[in-house]
Amino acid sequence: MTDPRVEIVARAYDRIADRFADWRDRLEGDPRREWAEDFASRLGPDARVLELGCGGASSETAMLTERFRLTGVDVSGEQIRRARERLPGAEFLQADFLEVELPGESFDAVCSFYVFNHVPREHLAGLLRRIAGWLRPGGLALNAFGASDNRGWTGEWLGADTFFASFRPPENSRLVEAAAFEILREEVVSFAEPEGAVEEFQWILARR
Ligand SMILES: C[S@@+](CC[C@H](N)C(=O)[O-])C[C@H]1O[C@@H](n2cnc3c(N)ncnc32)[C@H](O)[C@@H]1O
Repeated sequence: MTDPRVEIVARAYDRIADRFADWRDRLEGDPRREWAEDFASRLGPDARVLELGCGGASSETAMLTERFRLTGVDVSGEQIRRARERLPGAEFLQADFLEVELPGESFDAVCSFYVFNHVPREHLAGLLRRIAGWLRPGGLALNAFGASDNRGWTGEWLGADTFFASFRPPENSRLVEAAAFEILREEVVSFAEPEGAVEEFQWILARR
């Protein structure tokens, strides 16, 4: 982990793992399950799936583990500890996905749920190229991208300092296509946070 902003994010989730899980479960209108089911329905039974920023293992991580061979990666040691405790049958690595070395063309699918809005903008294009390199030809990628024009923000969120950044949807789509993906489905979807604020994410399902 060489980018200090990634270190800030890792430290944040080490501290707020419990509070984040409770907050996430109280979102209203979260479309993640429907996107995860669509993604899963397109995979064969033995598919190797990589989840980036898997956190402490959500119910979508559990669904993917039941149906496929899942590897989860997260930079927070506390989140990985929780994921291993919850789903002992899956493989979890504590690592920064901007740097981790994984074998090329070794996954049928890669996914992330509400993670890319923690990635510094200048790393997003390279991350998408890394994902393309980990996927076998024809492999699928499902990711939820932040949808606001945020050059980078560090501050307190859920009780710890963290970092957020994102592009507007046209730039997210452009970067996905520039990494040699074909977009199969995309949509900007909003949900309500427990405190009432409305947040937008762009979901993109693409094929290498
Ligand atoms: C908003 S949480 C989402 C967790 C999980 N996907 C969920 O929906 O419950 C974002 C997660 O991404 C992880 N993360 C952020 N940047 C990362 C990076 N560069 N490498 C690995 N994990 C990262 C954080 O540690 C955190 O667990």
